[in-house]
Amino acid sequence: MFCYAGRMTHSLTAGQLKWWQSGIIYQIYPRSFQDSNNDGIGDLNGVTARLDYLASLGVTAIWFSPIFTSPMKDFGYDVADYKGIDPLFGTLDDFDTLVREAHARGLKVMLDFVPNHSSDEHPWFVEARSSRDNPRRDWYMWRDPAPDGGVPNNWKSFFGGSAWTYDDATGQYYLHQFVSGQPELNWANPDVRREMADTLRFWMQRGVDGFRVDVIWLLAKDPDYRDEPRNPDWRPGQPEHNSVQHIHTQDLPLTHAYIRELRAALDEFDDRMMVGEIYLPIDTLLTYAGTPDAPECHLPFNFHLILTPWNAADIRKLVDEYDAAVTRSGSWPNWVLGNHDQHRFATRVGREQYRAAQTLLLTLRGTPTVYYGDELGMEDGFIPADRVVDPAALGQPDVPGVGRDPERTPMQWSAEPHAGFTDAHVQPWLPVAENFTAVNVAAQDVDPASDLNYFRTLTRLRRDSAALTLGTYRSLETGAGQPIQTGPTALTGGSFENTQAGSGVFAFVREHEGERVLVLLNFGAQDVPLTLPELHGASLLLSSQDGAGADTLRGNEAQLWRLA
Ligand code: NOJ
Repeated sequence: MFCYAGRMTHSLTAGQLKWWQSGIIYQIYPRSFQDSNNDGIGDLNGVTARLDYLASLGVTAIWFSPIFTSPMKDFGYDVADYKGIDPLFGTLDDFDTLVREAHARGLKVMLDFVPNHSSDEHPWFVEARSSRDNPRRDWYMWRDPAPDGGVPNNWKSFFGGSAWTYDDATGQYYLHQFVSGQPELNWANPDVRREMADTLRFWMQRGVDGFRVDVIWLLAKDPDYRDEPRNPDWRPGQPEHNSVQHIHTQDLPLTHAYIRELRAALDEFDDRMMVGEIYLPIDTLLTYAGTPDAPECHLPFNFHLILTPWNAADIRKLVDEYDAAVTRSGSWPNWVLGNHDQHRFATRVGREQYRAAQTLLLTLRGTPTVYYGDELGMEDGFIPADRVVDPAALGQPDVPGVGRDPERTPMQWSAEPHAGFTDAHVQPWLPVAENFTAVNVAAQDVDPASDLNYFRTLTRLRRDSAALTLGTYRSLETGAGQPIQTGPTALTGGSFENTQAGSGVFAFVREHEGERVLVLLNFGAQDVPLTLPELHGASLLLSSQDGAGADTLRGNEAQLWRLA
């Protein structure tokens, strides 16, 4: 069925939105959520046992990082059977139970689909590497050695070193842009594309509602395997992957044709969606939504909140530009503050700014994606050197900060040993973050002033407000002593005497059919006087701090107002 999100208009009502437009996506990293069989690794039955908690958050869909059969060289992003569940996580029956129970609670289920590469232990690759004339050979990307016997070109792995590994038995190199255990599938081969579309059908027939598609912007490669140009800005000590510009391995035009094929498979089913993992500038990013006649990703993941410096001016510029570009392109916006590849946002922006950041994510126009534990304010965990397991860290020991273990530590359920993630006598696959005795679900659940209950309040406000769910977005001038510049229906005459350079206040109005919600975010530590005539008669919906007054936005505070 055709379900491209048409151009947003004022006449749209909440009931006309698709679930992936009105809702909130919650990402679970399955290894780290809840261990039900005491092997130190989270599993599907663990998630099923926590579904009531997930429903209590007010989120709409749960997306699972990969749960498929895998040797776990990249923790599931190396798939050895696209239609099987890894025994570490459970069985297909466990999965069916989870989907049933999630649906019974009104939660959608999304899987992580990894079509760019398989595991080197996938039977396809085992066959492909068995001989040069094996029929599966062309399912992967093989090249002869360079004349000196070296690698075929200068393409790099994201995890350090060359993207090529030599296969002794057949005398050729194969391509992998991650670890050598993740050979790249050859998307130029129609059989590969057919098989991948079929995989989507298999899971949709089991009730899966959507997919997050791994590195979707990498699917096509230069057919001539030309060298990438050098990056003149790269300096030693930075990731080697950045030493070249990825014009022959990323964002190639053919990728769009491949995505349209996947989309066609999705559209054979009712109300399904895909969100593509894409790290690109805004204008290029939005081309991955396709057009009404040739739709691609329902949501091209927007990671720019993660990539933009955390101050009011830069964030406002980003949101203004993205919102305008999305409106021009007629697609649907989305926002992400954290995921399993990025340091926790509470760590990135700092504890003081945590609630302002959470408020921003959940009040912007567009679908928010929440990373597990961010609703509690989980921070990066400390990983001792002998516990590091992430291939990105192990492959680049000289590059600081590239390890992803710190943001993958076990969910903090309680102050019990291992935060209630696994049995006291079992060593979890990654250490629990040290702050778990204070930052955990059990403690925050019963504290009305906790981060968890702040999150729940935000999701409830969002759900109950058409302005926040689907209203327009307009930012306001907040410069020092400047009158607030307003549109025809908005604020006039007030000012934020904002004296803090490099931090500042970001203010915006969401509006739908006369309902107007004002969001005020103080990115600085200084109190800012509010002298807005419009706030007379306005009602305060929420403050991130105790005892908010109508005349001051305190340092780091977030406020939501319903305007009269
Ligand atoms: C992107 C995923 O988010 C990341 O975790 C993974 O390592 C690579 N793709 C390879 O699949």
